[in-house]
Amino acid sequence: MNDTKQKLSPTSIFLHWIVAVTIIGLLALGIYMEENEAYQFYDLHKSIGALIFLVIIARVVWRIKQGWPEPASDYKKIEHLMSKVVHYVLLIGSVVIPMSGLMMSWGGGHELAVFGLEVWGPNHDPASPEETMARSEAIGGLGHQLHGLISNIVIAAIVLHIVGALKHHIVDKDATLKRMLGKS
Ligand code: HEM
Ligand code: HEM
Repeated sequence: MNDTKQKLSPTSIFLHWIVAVTIIGLLALGIYMEENEAYQFYDLHKSIGALIFLVIIARVVWRIKQGWPEPASDYKKIEHLMSKVVHYVLLIGSVVIPMSGLMMSWGGGHELAVFGLEVWGPNHDPASPEETMARSEAIGGLGHQLHGLISNIVIAAIVLHIVGALKHHIVDKDATLKRMLGKS
């Protein structure tokens, strides 16, 4: 089923909410992990992040094929422009964050195992095999920088996005939020 002005397809709704909830959870877990050096959560964060990356790719392909949903009502031009910018930031950000996470782990020489299933192993230092060493400091470093930076930009965009959704629902009383909740 395709998206229409009155109703969004179950695929669009499912992909929006599974990615939205997982990203919000991973942002919170990531910040908690980093601030508290809670290394016991790194594997969980990386496993969920790598899996949701696959769903995010499907979401982007679906969005490219469908185009953006038509606005539910006649917004002002500036509102339309703002929501478009925020949607682009959210969609592109949800690709760049997990991709940079993968770059950080691969470049840094760390292993990636998705719930115990090895995708790639650690890069052992030949001089002291119990230690790991970077595969590429450039890729690892860039991944690290992007992961934190784009996460912060996406957090700001999510705040604007939620304020916008609530404004449509409470002030304009239009179908924007209802439509994303599967009601026509
Ligand atoms: C959509 C998915 C993801 C989100 C929203 C996310 C979000 C975050 C955030 C907000 C932080 C804290 C960054 C900071 O405070 O500077 C973080 C840390 C981290 N993330 Fe992710 N992440 C995701 C996916 C991944 C993936 C796929 C990997 C690796 C395979 C990964 C590896 C890490 C690591 C290793 C850290 C800790 C970095 C450090 O200790 O310096 N993340 N993540
Ligand atoms: C509680 C949190 C959230 C609420 C209440 C919410 C609500 C909505 C609503 C009502 C729309 C429809 C807008 C329209 O018709 O123009 C929408 C679209 C969208 N949302 Fe969210 N959202 C949330 C979280 C997120 C998160 C965390 C992301 C991504 C990181 C995200 C990404 C998007 C994108 C890209 C669209 C454009 C339409 C699409 O691709 O499906 N949202 N959201």
